[in-house]
Parts: sequence; C-alpha cells; structure tokens
Amino acid sequence: MNSQIRENQISQNGHLIIGGVDSVELAHQYGTPLVVYDVEKIRQQIRAFKQIFEEENVDYAISYASKAFSAIAMYQVANEEGAYTDVVSAGELYTALKANFPMKKVSFHGNNKSRKELEMAVENRVGKIIIDNFHEIDLLSEILKEKNSEIDVMLRITPGISAHTHEYDQTGQVDSKFGFDLESGQAEEALQKVLKNSRMHMLGIHAHIGSQIFELNGFQMAAEKLMEIANDWREKYNYTAKIINVGGGFGIKYVQSDHPLKPEEFVKAIVKTIKEKAQEFDFPIPEIDIEPGRSIVGPAGYNLYTVGSRKDVQGLKPYVMVDGGMGDNIRPALYQAKYETVLASDPRAKATETVRIAGKYCESGDILVENQALPSTKPGDILAMLDTGAYGYSMASNYNRNPRSAVVFAENGRASLVIKRETLDNLISLDRFYE
Ligand SMILES: Cc1ncc(COP(=O)(O)O)c(C=O)c1O
Repeated sequence: MNSQIRENQISQNGHLIIGGVDSVELAHQYGTPLVVYDVEKIRQQIRAFKQIFEEENVDYAISYASKAFSAIAMYQVANEEGAYTDVVSAGELYTALKANFPMKKVSFHGNNKSRKELEMAVENRVGKIIIDNFHEIDLLSEILKEKNSEIDVMLRITPGISAHTHEYDQTGQVDSKFGFDLESGQAEEALQKVLKNSRMHMLGIHAHIGSQIFELNGFQMAAEKLMEIANDWREKYNYTAKIINVGGGFGIKYVQSDHPLKPEEFVKAIVKTIKEKAQEFDFPIPEIDIEPGRSIVGPAGYNLYTVGSRKDVQGLKPYVMVDGGMGDNIRPALYQAKYETVLASDPRAKATETVRIAGKYCESGDILVENQALPSTKPGDILAMLDTGAYGYSMASNYNRNPRSAVVFAENGRASLVIKRETLDNLISLDRFYE
C-alpha cells in the first residue's frame, strides 16, 4: 500500500477514508473532480508548529499563507486554531473579511500591491503590511495621509540565499522580483524612509527564501542573516526590530522518494538559530513569525477523479484519462510537480501496470502523473491523488471553459461542502453579447 496512507484510512469495505468519510461515496455524492480536505490534518499541523514555539518559550505568530488555499472555510479553521494569515490580493483579503477573520491578524504581502488593495488594507486595519518596494512606500504613505491613518509595517528583504528547490519556487536569491536588495543598500534606504514616516510603525524584517524546501541549512542561514541585519540596523539607526519573519517554504512529502523533515523541525532549528544570534549580539529575542502554506494544507488535500477513456499503444506507457487535469491542478504541467495516486475503492490493491494519468484538457502537457503504478482500472473507477491541498484549487482555472471543482471539508466522519462546483451558467455569468 502507498506509505502515505495509514491503516485507519481504510474502511471496512476497503475504500480510502478521508476525515472519516468514504472517498468513493464523496465522489458519488458531490461528483468529480472533487477536492477533499482532511480538516483534522490541517489542525494538527498548526498545533505541531504551535507546540514548538511554546516549548521554546518565544513570542510567535503562525501566519497561514493563504495563497496555498484561500476559502472562507479555510480562514475559519485557521482562526479556530489561533493562526494568523497572510493575503496577497484584494480577493484573498475579501475572503478573509467574509470569514470574519480578525483583521489585526492579517499580513498583506505582494510585490505590486495596487492603490486599491492598499486602501482596502488600510480601511480594514489589517495587522501588517509587508512592504516590498519603494513604489509601495510612496503609495502607502499617500494613502495613510489621505485617510489620516497609521499602520504597522515590516520590510521584506531579499537575503541572497537560494535553497535547493525548483527554480520557479525560489524567491530569496539576489535576482528576485520580491523584496529589497541588501547588497546595494536598498534595504537600508527603505528602512530610513519608513522610520521617517510617523504613520508607519516599523515592526521588523521579513524574508521568504522559497518553497518546497527540504534543507534545514537555507532556513538557518536566512534566520542568521535576518538577525545580522537586525543587529546592524540597531547599531546604525538605533532601530530594534521586534519581529523576525522567516516566511514559509517547509517542504512536504509528495512521493515515496521525498524525505522531508517534519515541518515543525524546520521551525525548531529556526528558533534555535535566532536565539543563538540574539545571545551573541545581546539582542532582545524578537517575536518569531512563520508563514507556512503548503505544509499546513498540502498533505490534507486529496483530488478525486473519475476514470474515463484510455489509450494503449504497443510499446508505450498507457494513458488513463480522468475527468480533471491542469485546470484543477496546474502544478505537474507548470513545475513538473510529482504526485501519487491510488484507486479510491481499493488503495491496497496490488499494482499490475504503470500508466500515465492524463487530464482532459486540450494540451499534450496535461499529464497529472507520468509514472503511476496502479491495479487495472476501468471507466467509472475513482482515483484519489494525494497531497493536493496546496496550490491546487488556488491555482485552478477555467481553461477549456471547464467549471472548477467543488471543495469538501471532511472531519470526524462528516463532510461539508465548502465551495460549490461551478456551473455552466457561472462560466458565462460575466460574458456580454457584443453590441
Ligand atoms: C512571502 C511568502 N510567504 C509564505 C509563502 C508560503 O510558502 P509555502 O506554501 O511553501 O509554505 C510564500 C509562497 O510562495 C510566500 O511567497
């Protein structure tokens, strides 16, 4: 059996269970493609992060990076677990607002926030703006003046550290569109500008070095660097950072060959590094913030598909076609991301062939899994793709005018529809006749 599935995830009739609910029944009840979250897994990961901080006895914030999966229900769960959240658009902010997520626990991120987005953030008194560039300092300054308002801010810097991960997932290296460059003095210039502005309250320094990272080393280096900057800024500008935010990026297991540390182990190492540096510099231990996205929702998500057609050509790997694909999960096509899939009605069944799981979209690149060992399948069978909870639904599109999937939260044997399936009418709801 796939090692990511535990014995207690198999029902008496041998089906895969998600959050205590039979996945085949979910597929039949809500239709496919369907995204299902095991909510308990989301809660447990937030709690595991929390436990580390509590053990280490430091001030902290676990800010769920909601770009990984943004939905009213998800902000509800994050809030119930005491997490903060970060948003990167008016849309995510609006969703968090509608979920009654406490605005003081929201951070607003982004490398090109619009005037409208910043106005919305200021009007709703979000907790922090993570300032990314000089244009944003000017825009925010204007808005705060116009609205006679004040706000807490942090500066995002590019620490010049690149962790070993897929190129598209790297954001901490010097040549990055995100954040203020250190070497050229941009970051210091930004600090001076912000400190001069009495409407901006400079809380601290932020860096995010990338995503799906497996090496501890990159995070330790980033934490060290951030503390060095904090110490330098204290000496030069008499400014003491209250918060150090090391971003997210903790890698998760997608396939058997992935062997990541537990996400909380990364956090433990980060906290230790920051404490050591604080001691070395005689610097007050700052609040330590993290922004995990993938590690909170990734392993909790499953995409359910129904098998349809099949193509067999002598000497070639067969194509098993499913009713979803790059529209509900672009990651394989975009990043060559790898996933594993099981037969939902019998995840323990012995594999008899290796197939390609192909989507239904009109692109040759719409292959969800290149090499999947499976028992023999027939039209109507349900396949469950594992660990799809991060950057799947949130990157979904209507390519080929396919409606986006429904999303179900399953917990303690109960399923709850949290995002309805789009209808054909939804698809044309914004269209207008050309007159
Ligand atoms: C600034 C920032 N924080 C947090 C995250 C979340 O990263 P992950 O989902 O890998 O934990 C991202 C993702 O790109 C990010 O850009």
